[in-house]
Amino acid sequence: MKPLPHSSQNVTVTTLLADATQRTLADDVLAGLTSIPKTLPPKHFYDSAGADLFERICELPEYYPTRAEREILVAQSAEMARLTRATELVELGAGSAEKTRVLLTALDNAGTLQRYVPVDVAEQQLRQVSEAIAAEYPGVQVHGVAGDFLRHMDAVPAGDGPRIVALLGGTVGNFVGVDRTDLLAGISSILRPNDYLLLGTDLVKDRKPLEAAYDDSQGVTAAFNRNVLEVINRELDADFDPNAFQHVAIYNEQQEQIEMRLRSTMTQEVTIQALGGLKVVFAPGEEILTEVSAKFTPERLQQDLANAGLEIAWFETDSAGQFALSLSNPQIRS
Ligand code: SAH
Ligand code: AVI
Repeated sequence: MKPLPHSSQNVTVTTLLADATQRTLADDVLAGLTSIPKTLPPKHFYDSAGADLFERICELPEYYPTRAEREILVAQSAEMARLTRATELVELGAGSAEKTRVLLTALDNAGTLQRYVPVDVAEQQLRQVSEAIAAEYPGVQVHGVAGDFLRHMDAVPAGDGPRIVALLGGTVGNFVGVDRTDLLAGISSILRPNDYLLLGTDLVKDRKPLEAAYDDSQGVTAAFNRNVLEVINRELDADFDPNAFQHVAIYNEQQEQIEMRLRSTMTQEVTIQALGGLKVVFAPGEEILTEVSAKFTPERLQQDLANAGLEIAWFETDSAGQFALSLSNPQIRS
């Protein structure tokens, strides 16, 4: 598909989404809601209401990952700038890029930063963030890419100098099995020898703080979870009643992952007009798995990176040991 560029001053935004997003939503909903058990991939949470809800999650007292990752960025960004000498920061799943400013400022202060490349499926937010960062860092080029980092990694523009490719917030944990393997392999494929992957990973911990972080007392995470049904109603002309689904977030200790589900509170039938009037029947208590958020041990992280041909060069946690940031680069084969 032909990318649609848009540019003003030092900002360019390339979109690879157009109606492809709606097509993947239709494909994903058809596959996910006709399978047993029912599932939906988490990337469809992030329409503009979902992106706003995620920003509110980041400010919740129970949701520690954002604060913990920010603490590491504040303490370590100057060191990362020194170590990488990066001229470019590519950020996958940039979201509001709120924490990213800490690193951008350190790279800017080190005098190396030339370009910032945020990549996200949430196109409206991506456009706003691209404009805002271009205004905040006048000497820096911003090239936003509205795309799916599982499908459009080849659309990330090539860079000149050393670069950091960042995936922050623990987003890597939202991808499981072959998707995580593909995501890390895709990142690895765009790293040259002096480039680094900057990866934020949430760490394994006790069940209590984990479940509280994903089932907060104000019900913001519940609204974020149910929002995926609003997205399906609007985009695929469906008639889900989001209030007929209960938000469930449980830590699966064996798999070391939070599993977020929507549990049907009654027998119900949902019609999805855009899928030829597909009728989806729910039994009382039947669940849709809407998100997995994997928690890492250093060993699991090292193994996942090694499978993608990457080696950890630098690793830090926050002071409470809740969250980790790592820099890794392509393994030199002998
Ligand atoms: N990095 C930010 C935001 C994390 S939320 C932070 O640390 O707070 C996850 C972000 O990834 C959202 O903005 C979502 O739109 C984006 N995202 C999820 N799946 C994606 C995909 N397959 N391709 C591109 N972006 C994706
Ligand atoms: C974006 N991602 C890393 C968040 C997480 O913690 O897995 C999404 C989220 N889901 C519920 N709360 C936050």
